[in-house]
Amino acid sequence: MNDKELKEHICKELMEMADEWESGLARWAMEHPEEDRILRQTGRKDFEGTGVAKRENMCYDKCSQKSSKEEPTMYAEFDESLVTGNEMIDGQHKELIEKINKLVACCEQGGGKLEAIKMLDYLSDYTEFHFSAEEKLQEDISYPGIEEHKKQHADFKQAVSELHEMLEEEEGPSDAFVAAVNKNVIDWLYRHIKGFDRSVAEYKNMKSQADRL
Ligand SMILES: [Fe+2]
Repeated sequence: MNDKELKEHICKELMEMADEWESGLARWAMEHPEEDRILRQTGRKDFEGTGVAKRENMCYDKCSQKSSKEEPTMYAEFDESLVTGNEMIDGQHKELIEKINKLVACCEQGGGKLEAIKMLDYLSDYTEFHFSAEEKLQEDISYPGIEEHKKQHADFKQAVSELHEMLEEEEGPSDAFVAAVNKNVIDWLYRHIKGFDRSVAEYKNMKSQADRL
């Protein structure tokens, strides 16, 4: 991991801990002595004594300053805007995002072609599992938009298989490959979850309420 990656990694870790900052930071420092040492050098004191929201912003600023001269790496993040309210779907989306981030991290950290193919395979396998579960749920509740939803899933699987071909043709994961992951996987997933998957969760909720009446 180079300096830039390490700092981004630290920022990401810190962001995840923002809610329990004071106690969490001490615990994190004990568990990550090397990162903590570097964080101190890069000005952890800047973060102390400010509110959580301000620290989050500072954290983002620091990360974006570090990478502003280069193409920024975009990791996917499961936030409030992606919550559908369906426990199974949300849980699987978190897992999916984790797998996407492992693929991006592998590319960013100089993982070779074989490693990237392995990560893409994990993502592809989990996607199959997740889409099947979502489609089964839609069948169970007789969701009226199932055919259009299945088509969306098929499009995504096609995009993942094109990424596979791209990797096979290259010596290793290129910047163009990472850009394609950002556009065809991360951006797509955000749009899909916010529109299609939310509709399924809302329909299921409505149906359950109606069935109780
Ligand atoms: Fe879906």
